[in-house]
Amino acid sequence: MIDPTHFQHIVRTRRVARQFLSTPLAEEQLNDLLLDAQHSPSNCNTQPWVVHLVSGATLDVLSAALREADDRGHLTPDFAFDMQGYTGVHAQRAQCSGRARYEAINVSRDDKVGRQAAMRHNLSFFDAPHVALLFMPRIDDCVRSAGDLGMYAQTFLLSLHARGLAGIPQTLLGLYAQTVREVLGVEEELQLMFGISFGHADPLSPANFVEVGRAALSESVIRHY
Ligand SMILES: Cc1cc2nc3c(=O)[nH]c(=O)nc-3n(C[C@H](O)[C@H](O)[C@H](O)COP(=O)(O)O)c2cc1C
Repeated sequence: MIDPTHFQHIVRTRRVARQFLSTPLAEEQLNDLLLDAQHSPSNCNTQPWVVHLVSGATLDVLSAALREADDRGHLTPDFAFDMQGYTGVHAQRAQCSGRARYEAINVSRDDKVGRQAAMRHNLSFFDAPHVALLFMPRIDDCVRSAGDLGMYAQTFLLSLHARGLAGIPQTLLGLYAQTVREVLGVEEELQLMFGISFGHADPLSPANFVEVGRAALSESVIRHY
């Protein structure tokens, strides 16, 4: 049996990174990460994830296309995403994490230009050398498959962290689903949920020192005896 405190350490010290070094990962490392994630559980073992892994020159082409789509306001999400949908405690948590994120990089509340630039950094994958784009087929209302893709993503993120690497899931990339499909030649039937940019986190960037914390267990868990 592996030491459970080792697993606990990996889970509890993982953080997203928002500034990467450009150094690409070796093929063997990429393969190990993908194999770890492939072992994720899924409903009836359907493994509905289809992952497009983008690196090198194609990553630059994709980033340029995303930024161009953004300039045109050409949003084509497969799944709706509206921050206004968060209310109550969920809106509060989203505000707190946003505040922590912008404070870390010294962007003030009313610095609209700075905030826009930080947001747009998503579209250059935070300078990461790789992005894994997580697609899934249309199955019923997609909720079950979306859960499966979440399982996949978390395994991938933990595998990165266990290997001294880092990643960030990005819903923002999913807002440009049609652009991504066109650039990569992905079938129309596949829907883009989100991407995970990953690589070596820049150890000196303040963007990588954001602590957002978690709610107390009592806020999330209701026990019955
Ligand atoms: C499905 C998913 C989508 C996310 N999308 C984005 C995104 O588009 N841009 C971004 O900067 N962070 C994104 N995040 C990162 C979250 O903001 C981050 O996980 C959260 O603030 C908790 O921080 P931690 O993972 O470092 O603990 C996303 C996270 C998840 C799980």
